[in-house]
Amino acid sequence: MKHLLQTSDLTINDISQILSDAQYFIDGGNWSPKKNVFIANLFFENSTRTKCSFEVAQRKLGLDIIPFEVGTSSVSKGETLYDTVKTLEAIGIDAVVIRHNQDRYFDELVGKSDVSIINAGDGCGHHPTQSLLDLLTIKQEFGSFKGLKVAIIGDIRHSRVARSNADTLVRLGAEVVFSGPVEWFNDELLENGSYEDIDSTVETADVVMLLRIQHERHGEKGTKAADDYHQAFGLTIERERRMKSGSIIMHPAPVNRNVEIDDSLVECKRSRIFKQMTNGVYIRMAVLKRTIEQMEGSGQNEDIN
Ligand code: CP
Repeated sequence: MKHLLQTSDLTINDISQILSDAQYFIDGGNWSPKKNVFIANLFFENSTRTKCSFEVAQRKLGLDIIPFEVGTSSVSKGETLYDTVKTLEAIGIDAVVIRHNQDRYFDELVGKSDVSIINAGDGCGHHPTQSLLDLLTIKQEFGSFKGLKVAIIGDIRHSRVARSNADTLVRLGAEVVFSGPVEWFNDELLENGSYEDIDSTVETADVVMLLRIQHERHGEKGTKAADDYHQAFGLTIERERRMKSGSIIMHPAPVNRNVEIDDSLVECKRSRIFKQMTNGVYIRMAVLKRTIEQMEGSGQNEDIN
């Protein structure tokens, strides 16, 4: 497939290949496209990590980045996403990285444009490259996924990270449990995990993955007071002390310090939060390599194999 829209687009073999290519890049490996590749990053929602790490990855691979800022584009004149992508295709763009607040924004694009689409997050839907970088971080730590218990804690309902990670982790053999406010739970996710109380789950999980409270998606329903949330569902110092030996802390970030996780734990020995961000660059290099190889019709690269 020339797109990466959701983790279910990837087989277990695809995931293994992407993790392996990312590790190859971490270890200093090189790869570049056979011809110029023009790429644009379309971020209709704000981003620090995903946008910047995609750009670093694109520069490391020698791609031609065509600057695109939603605020100064013709989106402000009413141009639709469909017309933006068709326009970029018409002027020779090969691939677009898109983040958008609409769930499954890509449904209106697939099959109607030859541009490759890499999803950098759609509403409450999917965030495939975040899941892949999380998988790489877990693999670096534990070697494999089989038998690991991963606790995903927090604003499950609005989290595209929870949905993407539950899909990949379960397929790779990990046990996934969810925790957090029950009113923010999503029954649809129960097929990929069970619900547990946070105080018991922190003691048994190998990976304690906190989620950001997605205030921007809560609408009229409002949210909880920060201190109440921290005591009820956050990773407090007391809960971290009860985590088992060798277990790690993850968070897709940005982190609300002292809400989802105690400030002093963000950079503690167990935390892999900044490691996740570093891995994001290499995972995005691997995803771009795969996309470009599929565009080139090679499926392989001589340097890497
Ligand atoms: N984790 C993540 O997607 O971060 P950004 O929103 O900063 O890209």
